[in-house]
Amino acid sequence: MKYEENFKESLENPEAFWGRAAEGIDWDKKWDCVLDQSNSPFFKWFPGAMLNTCFNAVDRHVLQGRGDQVALIYDSAVTNTVQKYTYAQLQERVARIAGFLKGLGVEKGDTVLIYMPMIPEAVMSMLACARLGAVHSVVFGGFAPRELSVRIDDAKPKVILSASCGIEVQRVIPYKPLLDEAIELAGPKPEKCVILQRPQVNAEMKQGRDLDWNEQEASAQPADCVSVKATDPLYILYTSGTTALPKGVVRDNGGHAVALLWSMKHIYNINPGEVYWAASDVGWVVGHSYIVYGPLLRGATTIVFEGKPVGTPDPGAFWRVISEHGVKALFTAPTAIRAIKREDPNGEHLKKYDISKFETLFLAGERLDPDTYFWATDLLKVPVIDHWWQTETAWAICGNFRGLEQFPIKAGSATMPMPGYNLKVLDGISAQELGPNEAGLLAVKLPLPPGNLPTLWNNDKRFVESYMAPFPGYYVTGDGGHIDEEGYVFVMGRIDDVINVAGHRLSTGGMEEVLSKHPSVAECAVIGAADNLKGQLPVGFVVLKSGVNRQKDEIVSELVQMVRQDIGAVASFKKAVVVNRLPKTRSGKVLRGTMRKIADGENYTVPPTIDDPTALGEIESALMQIGYAQKVAD
Ligand code: COA
Ligand code: AMP
Repeated sequence: MKYEENFKESLENPEAFWGRAAEGIDWDKKWDCVLDQSNSPFFKWFPGAMLNTCFNAVDRHVLQGRGDQVALIYDSAVTNTVQKYTYAQLQERVARIAGFLKGLGVEKGDTVLIYMPMIPEAVMSMLACARLGAVHSVVFGGFAPRELSVRIDDAKPKVILSASCGIEVQRVIPYKPLLDEAIELAGPKPEKCVILQRPQVNAEMKQGRDLDWNEQEASAQPADCVSVKATDPLYILYTSGTTALPKGVVRDNGGHAVALLWSMKHIYNINPGEVYWAASDVGWVVGHSYIVYGPLLRGATTIVFEGKPVGTPDPGAFWRVISEHGVKALFTAPTAIRAIKREDPNGEHLKKYDISKFETLFLAGERLDPDTYFWATDLLKVPVIDHWWQTETAWAICGNFRGLEQFPIKAGSATMPMPGYNLKVLDGISAQELGPNEAGLLAVKLPLPPGNLPTLWNNDKRFVESYMAPFPGYYVTGDGGHIDEEGYVFVMGRIDDVINVAGHRLSTGGMEEVLSKHPSVAECAVIGAADNLKGQLPVGFVVLKSGVNRQKDEIVSELVQMVRQDIGAVASFKKAVVVNRLPKTRSGKVLRGTMRKIADGENYTVPPTIDDPTALGEIESALMQIGYAQKVAD
């Protein structure tokens, strides 16, 4: 079946479409119905069915005779290590890790927090939780203790799994002091922490609470897979919303397995035994779906890469990994390609490697700008596919297909909606569906396809308020864009206070909360300004309390340090300016959208509701002083 038929059937008869896709999964018990729509917007995929996601990702491949096939390649450019694990070896380690978790009292439904760098044990930990029916919550290593503590508060993990350090190019980051501080800050405390000691750093252990990973694993009894409901949670992944409190996106077991398996074949065209590489981090949704679950559910070989596109040791790192491990498809963020392009504009490093097995480059995480698209296409001479998705969806909302029907590419477009996504462009005020080429809010008519979030962790209310209530009958993506006359989707960026920095999703509201804690700051605003490398970078504006007459530079560097301390280095918050007032509407709303346009040198109109038009001029000169607002029109 080609795209048109698939898409039509997925909307008109989702039960038939996804019921067929579900045949690729091993179920312990079949479903009562494919989709329960009785309690909208809380849809249930495959209610009544039972399965185990770890069994489907690991054990069944061993049972089917592929135990000797490589399941996971750990390639660490920062420690010069390559390790390979077959499916049988992966099963053995995962069962033991599940065994020690079980020994520590972890049972079906309990939560386990994972705070680890890109090492095989991070993947194994996730699978071990899935094996027991426990709910994992992975926190990205670049987040600071306060961010980690907020997640501990919400997920209330029984056990935390961590390692002694992460390695950032030349810098070793001890994780344990960060973890200790986060636990200190958190309300509910984990019963146990199991720490993997890496050779680079020896973590100090807290007696009675901390346990040594290797000792635990060596003495553990392997644990079997526990059957769970298709609708039971597999994991929680926190993502930035518009406030400082992150949203705990919940993933179910059944719908998730079905959707990811479908995507591996039809979007990525990956078959069992082939090598697929998502150069991301297990802390992000891309890592969850396409380092761990997607490729393993498909019986493919996945790569855990500990390194960066540049600097480990050079901009040829990605081409080396592709060549050395015979990668068929790579998935990364445009920012990684821009980083390579900046250091090696003529692609000299590529000449050293044979990448003849490489068939497709997939990009997501932020808009793929046409320059980067053309550069990568010319260099690699393979299709470069932009696809658009979010933590909430677990897989692409839009994209092109390598295993179904490939559409001609239009630079700047994420191509067609995926089956199951009845994507519409809405007018933000009238909520009417807009026609071709009309710009508006991108929204998906319910129901969402399998894999998408059934709710937020312990917070049905926020789930409804954030995504479902603004336009009843639709899921609001938070992105704006348009669909052209041929059905190609163009995603232009967030319409809320979420920004994308180097493919990482961050909340400007969260940064504002940090800035406002500074004793000299009366009020503040943070916007995401365009950046050639990272897509966007945060820029802060602060108004000082009256009577404060300290050096502005000193205050700015304290603010930069505070964001790094409270949110983490990953926020890349390095620029802030002191202004006399923020531009506001008469009702007091800060004009962040206009400020962003000024920063990016775009045309803007002075909003008629503005309180004091001179405030915009001050913003413009402040931005110019730090290298922004270069081509402002009136
Ligand atoms: N643990 C601790 N610190 C981390 C970290 C981690 N796991 N990941 C990043 N950081 C730190 C970095 O060291 C850097 O610190 P610095 O300010 O002291 O230099 C800061 O957080 C910002 O990191 P990053 O945004 O990664 O910037 P970078 O300059 O180190 O690298 C790129 C830039 C483009 C090479 C890098 O962002 C990249 O490879 N991006 C790929 C995109 C990606 O993985 N996206 C995920 C979704 S697909
Ligand atoms: P995250 O939840 O971290 O994956 O971030 C999701 C957000 O990243 C989306 O809401 C978009 O704003 C942005 N995004 C992801 N992929 C794309 C893409 N292909 N094109 C444009 N924006 C994208």
